[in-house]
Amino acid sequence: MSASEQKALAAAAALDFVESGMILGLGSGSTAELFVAQLGEALASGALEQIQGVPTSENTAALAREVGVPLIPVDQASRIDLTVDGADEVDGRFRLIKGGGGCLLREKIIANASDLMVVVVDETKLVSDLGAFPLPVEVDPFAFTITAKKVFDALRAAGVKNPDINLRRKGDGLDPFLTDGGNYILDCACGRLPDADDAAEYLSEIPGVVEHGLFIDLARVLIVGEDGGARVMEL
Ligand code: A5P
Repeated sequence: MSASEQKALAAAAALDFVESGMILGLGSGSTAELFVAQLGEALASGALEQIQGVPTSENTAALAREVGVPLIPVDQASRIDLTVDGADEVDGRFRLIKGGGGCLLREKIIANASDLMVVVVDETKLVSDLGAFPLPVEVDPFAFTITAKKVFDALRAAGVKNPDINLRRKGDGLDPFLTDGGNYILDCACGRLPDADDAAEYLSEIPGVVEHGLFIDLARVLIVGEDGGARVMEL
């Protein structure tokens, strides 16, 4: 079974957590998009009603409109019942690396505001130690080279031997990639994060860091698409 088939299985299983009338945080990336598409089908068939979505990216907002998922402006969401989102890596404590698609700030704001975060992944995302996937860190463009040096120091202090930090660029390889919020992303290749909690804490203390891609203590449910089915785990 391909990774995208596994993602579709995980996304389908996440629908079991959705009830009519909910306000839903809609994550970003290919797995979250599969969930949004399936949510649109459930609404079209009448299996679910009166769902309001809060998208975490412009891409997800566009897809939601296309498949008929009603959206509300985030500032009008009195609460968020549930967020369903993907991840780039997940460890045994449901700690995540996110931001491969560049949406980490909005994803974290919405996940943090939600009563429940359900993470949907294919099995390649499960790791014993976080860090093989380069950690995305969203930074203010102002003085980003100074911020990058601080990020390097923070990762060293958190036990990463030789962080390799690169400014993410657009497909042309020239211009910096810009997040939906107009920020830069530093992709921090760590190899392994010996202490993800420390790394998250140290990165959060740097003034130029808008947000980092370590999601700690946010996910409560993990759904892994595997050959033959979806495995649902709860913390
Ligand atoms: C978006 O910025 C990311 O946080 C995604 O959630 C993450 O990259 C997972 O993406 P896929 O579902 O496409 O693997």
